[in-house]
Formats: sequence, structure tokens, C-alpha cells
Amino acid sequence: MLIKNKILSDIKSSEITPKSVFMNRRHFIKSAAIASAGSALMPGLLSSSALAATDPKRGKPLVGIIKSPLSTSEEPTPYNHVTTYNNFYEFGTGKDDPAVMAGDFKPRPWKVQVGGEVGKPGVYDFDDLIRPHKLEERIYRFRCVEAWSMIVPWVGIPLAEIIKRFEPTSKAKYVAFETLNDPERMPGQVRRVLSWPYVEGLRMDEAMNPLTLMAVGLYGEELLGQNGAPIRLVVPWKYGFKSIKSIVGIRLVDTMPPTTWNRSAPHEYGFYANVNPEVSHPRWSQAKERRLGGGYFSPKVETLKFNGYGEEVASLYDGMDLSKSF
Ligand code: MTE
Repeated sequence: MLIKNKILSDIKSSEITPKSVFMNRRHFIKSAAIASAGSALMPGLLSSSALAATDPKRGKPLVGIIKSPLSTSEEPTPYNHVTTYNNFYEFGTGKDDPAVMAGDFKPRPWKVQVGGEVGKPGVYDFDDLIRPHKLEERIYRFRCVEAWSMIVPWVGIPLAEIIKRFEPTSKAKYVAFETLNDPERMPGQVRRVLSWPYVEGLRMDEAMNPLTLMAVGLYGEELLGQNGAPIRLVVPWKYGFKSIKSIVGIRLVDTMPPTTWNRSAPHEYGFYANVNPEVSHPRWSQAKERRLGGGYFSPKVETLKFNGYGEEVASLYDGMDLSKSF
């Protein structure tokens, strides 16, 4: 994964700077973020985001949410960390960038193009896509390949329910996803730090697993731009880069689709990307992780195979060598 070499300060800007100056700094960051070159991500470098102490914009409350029995009982990571320490290269390569740069992002109207091996292809309006479904709150562990993690109360719909409505044909073996490609709305796309649009994929049985979620919110509210508004994938047993944001395309296909990080660095990022403490990234260990919100000096915790969801998903990979199919 590309690495960012800016070292984040542990001291929040809002604590050391008058608010007016701090707000100007936010404007400065906004323009500077586009200009800054994407360099390298520093795994495990984790401090409070400079923006964590400000009042983040909140999403519209979602109604009629049911609680899922698939939730972990672990304490969720505070909202301001989940919404200000992000990876979303379409809005800049820094962790602070998406919260600033996606502030004006308008996720409506929003269309999702569905095609490939389905009986019901078409362009679905976002609201029509989710209207027939009940929204569930799923509190999941979420582990980034950079060895940080968080606990997120996502709100969403099992992907399997949505896919069934498209009537997959027997030739559908994989699902390919695509993010919006629009540099005017996603200013980080003016730089070719990745090849746009961001694309991801799942094997059909992974997509249909009950844990796989299409998230439309978190903390009971609509997703903010920085978290992938209005609709993103969440695959809790895989590294975070599989969880593609701001989806505009879903295609069911018969061969393994290309994925953005695999294209960018094939020796570092495979198609499967299952969380696995036994298989190191070529440049760092995956054995431990640091929980977001605890600060850089908080103790690391052991990473669990399949991020702790092995009982539900390990059988999907029976007979595969996970050090080769990483
Ligand atoms: N999706 C798109 N379109 N662009 C991205 O840069 N980053 C990925 C993933 N989805 C990314 C993306 C990575 S590396 C991670 S760790 C998660 O989003 C981060 O999700 P979060 O910011 O909501 O925590």
C-alpha cells in the first residue's frame, strides 16, 4: 500500500490554536491536500487525528434499524475517530484529508449500475436499492492492513439480500465493485496515486456470506462522505481495503476481477486479503494491531485470524494455501 510519511502530532491542533486560526488551517489543508503527493503509508503510526476534537458534521439519523445478533459486544470506537481518521484516496492520501475534503460531497442523487451475469440488470437509484430492505446495526471489528483497527457500529443490509434481487445466473462466480470516478466531486482523483476508479471484488460465496454487509450508515446515521457515502461494502474478516466506498457499479462476472491495490502492488496485496496474523505483509508484521482512539503509546492487541470471524468464514477457504492466496 502506498505509504504516507507525514508524522501526525499527538497534540490536537484545536487544543493549541485559536478556533479561527484552526478553521483557516482546515481550509489550508483542503487545498494543500490536493497538491500533496501521495507517498507512503506508515503502518502502526497512530495518534489522535488533528480533527478529532472538532465537532464533526453528523449524518442524517436513520430510522427503523434492527439490532443484529452478529454484532460483537466490544465497545465501539468513538464516532469522532471513525469519521476523522480515514483511508479514502479519492479525497487525499492523508488520514485527515477525507474528513476535510469530503465535507461538501453530495451523495444524492446517486445511481448504482448493475450488470453482468444477472437476470435484472439496470441502473438503480440508491433509495430504490435499499428501500425494500430492513436496516441492521452490525457492530463489527474492522482491521486495516496498516495494523490499526476499530470497532464500528455499521448500519446496512446483507449484500446477499441485495444480490438475490438482481437474480444471478449460474455463470456468476465473482462480484466486481466500482467507486465513483469524478475528479470534480472527488478531488483526490486529479492525482494518479492509484488507477481510478477504485475497484474491488469478492468471490460469489464471500459476497453471499451473511457477514458481508452493504453499509449505508454508522452510529445510527447516514454515512458521511469520508466513510463512503452513500453506500459502501464492509467485509469484516478481510483487511479494510476490500471494503470499497461510494459504490456506483456492481457486476457479476465469471472470472476473478481486477482489484485496485493488487494492481498497484501485486506482491503486497492479493485478491483475498483475509486478515491473517500468520502471513506478514512484505514490509511489516500482521501479528498485532493498535486500536484506533487509544493513541500511539496504547498497547497493541493480538490480531485474530479472519479478524475473529473464523467460525463463520474459515470453511470458505478449505484446501487453499493462505500464504499463497493472500
Ligand atoms: N474505497 C475507495 N473507493 N477508496 C479508498 O481509498 N480505502 C480502503 C477502504 N475503501 C479506500 C476504499 C481502505 S485502505 C480502508 S482501511 C478503508 O476503506 C477505510 O475505511 P474507513 O475510512 O471508513 O475507516
